[in-house]
Amino acid sequence: FDDRKNSFGPNIEIDSEWTPFKAKIDTFMGQDTQWRAFPIVGGEKVATGQTHSVDSPYDHSQTAGQIDWADAATVTKAIDLAEAAFPAWSARPATERADCLDKVADLMEENYAELMALCHREAGKTIQDSIDEVREAVDFCRYYAQQARSHFANPTSYTDFLGQEKQAKLNGRGVFTCISPWNFPLAIFTGQVVAALVVGNTVVAKPAEQTSLIAFRAIEMLHQAGVPTDVLHLLPGDGATVGAPLTSDKRIAGLAFTGSTGTAQLINRTLAARGVAPVPVIAETGGQNAMLVDSTSLPEQVVRDAVRSAFASAGQRCSALRVLFVQADIADRVIPMIKGAMQEQTVGLPYLHSTDVGPVIDKKAQDMLLEHIERMTKESKLIAQAELPDFAKNGTFVAPTAFEISSIDQLTDEKFGPILHVVRYKARDLDKIIDTINNSGFGLTMGVHSRNETTCARIASRARVGNLYINRDQVGAVVGVQPFGGQGLSGTGPKAGGPHYLQRFAIEQDL
Ligand code: NAD
Ligand code: ALA
Repeated sequence: FDDRKNSFGPNIEIDSEWTPFKAKIDTFMGQDTQWRAFPIVGGEKVATGQTHSVDSPYDHSQTAGQIDWADAATVTKAIDLAEAAFPAWSARPATERADCLDKVADLMEENYAELMALCHREAGKTIQDSIDEVREAVDFCRYYAQQARSHFANPTSYTDFLGQEKQAKLNGRGVFTCISPWNFPLAIFTGQVVAALVVGNTVVAKPAEQTSLIAFRAIEMLHQAGVPTDVLHLLPGDGATVGAPLTSDKRIAGLAFTGSTGTAQLINRTLAARGVAPVPVIAETGGQNAMLVDSTSLPEQVVRDAVRSAFASAGQRCSALRVLFVQADIADRVIPMIKGAMQEQTVGLPYLHSTDVGPVIDKKAQDMLLEHIERMTKESKLIAQAELPDFAKNGTFVAPTAFEISSIDQLTDEKFGPILHVVRYKARDLDKIIDTINNSGFGLTMGVHSRNETTCARIASRARVGNLYINRDQVGAVVGVQPFGGQGLSGTGPKAGGPHYLQRFAIEQDL
């Protein structure tokens, strides 16, 4: 089932180039490597005294490092400096700003091993997820650099039928707040920040409280790449102390947010309550993602793609599959195969090759997921639960679990972890099923498995989702290839990693 595994044991090095690279990652994996991070304001590392230890999600007796959270004075100073720096930064040619992004991408590639170790130790990401994480951050930098050179470097000329000419240029708007989640601690953090910067905005960036060490390294690299220290500031801390003032300050000219739908709604209310001119908000939020499988599909492919979509990254992807709808005619064949595939899932330490599913991010997430499993165990039918290793008690692991439920209505909100729900449906109810999914209000990803092109087209035209994947898994959108983002409760758009994203950070001005 998983070709990374072999019969020689759990931690076999599989490739000659990989072996020295893995050795390099391992130099950062011991407790003797500890990262120390601070708010960075005007290039200064600010010791606020509010120091927090970052425990590794797979073993809470181990720490990845220490971080000082920002206080109110630090937040205010960052916004003051960012506001003052805006005219000069926005006046710089877009090509110069784009060059900085390419340099950041180079620096991230040079520091790939350290960043991967941080992904393991701070976020509990597996090897494959850590590779993908750094790759996506690099891709965002290079893609937005290329987009900025194409669309922001020169004015656009317009000529009317009388021969009147005008020119307009896309410029930055001012100070942008960027607030990001822990589940893509480098990729999403970097993507938001570099998008805002390359357009000519100055940035105050708040990473998730769980994963600020890696964000700190990203900011160091951005400064090293030539982004002026008064243009970009890092403000680690929690939502209430740091996120809220970064939203309520009247000088904020735009906000990029990725996180839960509830937080996005709160941010919208706070921005509106400022009583100043409305500003653009780019919100990428949660999902209740479904996969629809009909009787023409290939069961082996369905099982592979459903299991990956539900359990890769311990289900901690906004794109992850939560509800698998299987046409009743094939359900008795597909469900036992899912059970079999789940028994092959290895829950383990994130830095080992043998691991399919690592830990969840923290105790709060674990408690919420275990509570849901307890409720579902009472209310529905357990299909399978993968085994937890003995060491799981040292960290925050949740066993991949699948339930058969009668309707998506049994689920009220997003359960952000390795829990799959399976629903049988009758072919004649397909449209009704799609409407029920639409009615959840979420619209992020959807998977379809069918060899009937008419069915695929019918689902595609009826479903209201951002990213629809046919006959494949539904996670792992690639920057510039599969622009990513949802609709409704799942986000405002424009899609990240797509050709319309940067424009939302900009204002169009006549020359
Ligand atoms: P979260 O909403 O709890 O936190 C996200 C960020 O918002 C964090 O930095 C947090 O500190 C901050 N925050 C919290 N309260 C705030 C407030 N009052 N004001 C300002 N900022 C505040 O989300 P999370 O648990 O970090 O991330 C998981 C969620 O993110 C899931 O719902 C997932 O679906 C979603 N997500 C969506 C996408 C997407 O592209 N659509 C991508 C990744 C994650
Ligand atoms: N962009 C991420 C994915 O597609 C969320 O899985």
